Amino acid sequence: MSDKVKIGIVGVGTIGSVHADAYAKVNRADVVALCDILPDRLKEKGARHGVETLYEDYNELLADSDIEAVSVCVPNNMHAPIAIAAFDAGKDVLLEKPMALSAQEGQAICDARDRAGKVLQMGMVQRQSADGRFLKEVIDKGQLGEIYQMRVILRRRRGIPGMGGWFTTKALSGGGGLIDIGVHFFDLAMWTSGCWNPTRVSAKTYTKFGSPMENYNYTSMWAGPPDYNGTFDVDDYACGFVRFGANTTMNFEVCWAANTEPQQFLEILGDKGGIRMGSGAPVLLTEVGDRIADVKMDYDNKRDNFAEEMRTFIAAVKGEAEPAATAEQGVTTMKLIDAIYRSSAADAEVVVE
Ligand SMILES: NC(=O)c1ccc[n+]([C@@H]2O[C@H](COP(=O)([O-])OP(=O)(O)OC[C@H]3O[C@@H](n4cnc5c(N)ncnc54)[C@H](O)[C@@H]3O)[C@@H](O)[C@H]2O)c1
Repeated sequence: MSDKVKIGIVGVGTIGSVHADAYAKVNRADVVALCDILPDRLKEKGARHGVETLYEDYNELLADSDIEAVSVCVPNNMHAPIAIAAFDAGKDVLLEKPMALSAQEGQAICDARDRAGKVLQMGMVQRQSADGRFLKEVIDKGQLGEIYQMRVILRRRRGIPGMGGWFTTKALSGGGGLIDIGVHFFDLAMWTSGCWNPTRVSAKTYTKFGSPMENYNYTSMWAGPPDYNGTFDVDDYACGFVRFGANTTMNFEVCWAANTEPQQFLEILGDKGGIRMGSGAPVLLTEVGDRIADVKMDYDNKRDNFAEEMRTFIAAVKGEAEPAATAEQGVTTMKLIDAIYRSSAADAEVVVE
């Protein structure tokens, strides 16, 4: 009998295809079925990925007893309903980010996993990046000392995806740039530092570029072209300050669009060293003897992030390892994002609940 895990992919848009390509690189995974509500796209993706079993209704895919595990690659509003239905059908789940529209929905997914006794891995692919793993290694070896401050900068100049489509419609996405891209580096900051206790947030979100949609100037748009009959009711800029208990803090700027230079990094400061990832080769800012020193760090930066994500998921399904990113961590990240939106609406610091 084959020891391959039979996979179904629900949602074969941009990331669904990335999942299919990545599973194809993993010996013990076999994508046996695809599902999408768009019949033409489904047929085209079936041909592209060499998958013959195609479903237009995810309930049919979940009822297929041949399938052991599913990748959930649909718009954010469908994460909770499909992940919960998958657990009820006895499948293991690899769930794309963000976990759901809110921490409450995330918790419902967690509960469904527990009822089913199945595996859930969050699609936090940045954890599989060479830079992310290197940063974690440096921290785990104590080379930064005691961590007290983190900074997340994710700034696009003009990078709103699918203007007017599901990405920019709050009911379908849960929010804009903050929930779409912020989630990656918030997870990375908490995972590498081990600070999974966000306690208080003061933040502000803005909507400056999508309204009216026709006035948005851009040079490229993925998930496009724009649909000017659609909706734009989400943030395109967010900034704020997070406390992790009494001794650690994080400030952040996350935006799809702003009149600024594009920039992307996670910086972590400790009392022995500070380091940035995401902006070229990492340099450890530290002291050597009694000298202030910049130490250029050497590491293997060749890694296929998505293939590694699938490999870790298959190992978790087989019971050989813990999921690379857990549902509980997903819920904590959603609580942080919920608090950022609440703080902005309240114009005040709020407790992360
Ligand atoms: N990990 C990453 O780096 C990364 C990158 C891009 C997107 N994502 C996440 O992946 C998810 C999908 O994003 P995308 O860019 O692929 O979007 P997309 O719009 O390209 O694809 C989504 C697909 O889901 C299909 N779909 C919608 N409702 C469905 C349903 N009920 N049943 C089956 N199929 C359905 C759509 O027809 C579409 O083909 C989002 O949650 C997004 O945040 C993650």
